Amino acid sequence: MKTKTKPAKQKVKTVLDRHQRDRGMLVAILQDIQAEYNYLPKKALTEVSQGLDIPLTQVYSVASFFKAFSLKPRGRHIINVCLGTACHVRGAVRVLDEIERRLGIKAGGTTKDHRYTLETVNCVGACALGPIVIIDGNYSGEMKADGVKALLKGYK
Ligand code: FES
Repeated sequence: MKTKTKPAKQKVKTVLDRHQRDRGMLVAILQDIQAEYNYLPKKALTEVSQGLDIPLTQVYSVASFFKAFSLKPRGRHIINVCLGTACHVRGAVRVLDEIERRLGIKAGGTTKDHRYTLETVNCVGACALGPIVIIDGNYSGEMKADGVKALLKGYK
């Protein structure tokens, strides 16, 4: 059975209390909030700023400095297609095109149902196995466009 979602304010308060409202724990606090929402909502950042008594600009500067943080809503599943040179010459663009077609979004986008976010990366160090697609941290190598349907099926 699903539990009732805690109001947003309460969630942020819980995270702040967990870190004893320590300003030095700002990155960890933002990580916990992102884990709750899959991104960093503006409202939550405002509450962090007030809760830690630090300027909102400081919270935003940390949130935008680290690539791991997202200020836009993201999907439940994060898809990364490697477009590094080795993957590119082995057909990564065709794989990306097929994923875009199937999901109805472009790279950088999130599906309307917030199920998938599609991103591209440049070389993840597994060139010999390219093209590489990474979903939620799981690597799939030697991807072909006609394998995309089956791959996505595993991430509903
Ligand atoms: S270019 Fe894709 S893993 Fe290196």
